[in-house]
Amino acid sequence: MVIDEKAKILSHTLTGPGYRFLVLEAPQLAKVLVPGQFVHVKIPSLEESALRRPFSVFDADDGKVTLLYKDVGRGTSALTKAKEGEELLVMGPLGHGFPSSCKGTPLLIGGGYGVAPLHFLAKQLVKNNCKETPILFVGGRTKDDILAIEYFERLGVQVFLASNDGSIGEKGFVTLPLDAKLAELKKDGKDFELFTCGPDGLLKAVSDRALDCNMPGWISMDRHMICGVGACFACIQAIRLPDGSVYNARCCVNGPVFKAKEIVWETK
Ligand SMILES: Cc1cc2nc3c(=O)[nH]c(=O)nc-3n(C[C@H](O)[C@H](O)[C@H](O)COP(=O)(O)OP(=O)(O)OC[C@H]3O[C@@H](n4cnc5c(N)ncnc54)[C@H](O)[C@@H]3O)c2cc1C
Ligand code: FES
Repeated sequence: MVIDEKAKILSHTLTGPGYRFLVLEAPQLAKVLVPGQFVHVKIPSLEESALRRPFSVFDADDGKVTLLYKDVGRGTSALTKAKEGEELLVMGPLGHGFPSSCKGTPLLIGGGYGVAPLHFLAKQLVKNNCKETPILFVGGRTKDDILAIEYFERLGVQVFLASNDGSIGEKGFVTLPLDAKLAELKKDGKDFELFTCGPDGLLKAVSDRALDCNMPGWISMDRHMICGVGACFACIQAIRLPDGSVYNARCCVNGPVFKAKEIVWETK
């Protein structure tokens, strides 16, 4: 059941250039959210008719829901003005998330704020005593786009970094350390699953690797959303069904997480 919870801001802090953590007191949502689902937030200082904005969940625990967001435009910029103690409406849980267990080693690959749902997932996998500890791969343009790594390290997650300018980790795309790990796992005959959230280029690269290796890939699609609940068809993604037919899925209700083998990528 979808809840629209009035959530009090417990803290709101800058964590990198343009990126903020928003910690909300939201006991009802914290109890039911699963990794990969998202919430739809009503931004307090925008006009009453303004659309809500979708955000993944970085953490949901102990009555609190934590979001990690980037200030990119009108809505997120207005959200930066929200103060501790203020209340805002948060609707959720929305969409289908990642599976909560994994056969083999979980490989988590993120870019930018895409690490948000991966942190919640890593925490859940560790809590569920997943046989192998998750491994995280994060890429960004510079070190400023690499976020919240210490939260993963606290969970015991091994972290590999890459940046386009070489200011942190390997110089180049995050697929460099990922491909090295895939080669190692394949050589040892080990099973693994890939979980990803980030820009489309990264999602496609991870999806291709999951298919090439014939291993499960779980792809969280970031599409512009309006209603967040399946009514407006703003968030369409072509999805291939097992019988080969293709249909227009709505990422907000049928996703945002899809299997790699289901996604029909747009050819540009
Ligand atoms: C399921 C889902 C989960 C998300 N999780 C997070 C999260 O955890 N943290 C976070 O910071 N953001 C997240 N986003 C993206 C976030 O919703 C948008 O950045 C936000 O709605 C932009 O609103 P705005 O009014 O500030 O920007 P606008 O003024 O509407 O747009 C500013 C710029 O951002 C681009 N933009 C708008 N929406 C998106 C989008 N969905 N994806 C990519 N670019 C977009 C626009 O094209 C434009 O270039 C998520 C989006 C979805 C669909
Ligand atoms: S955002 Fe309206 S149908 Fe998905």
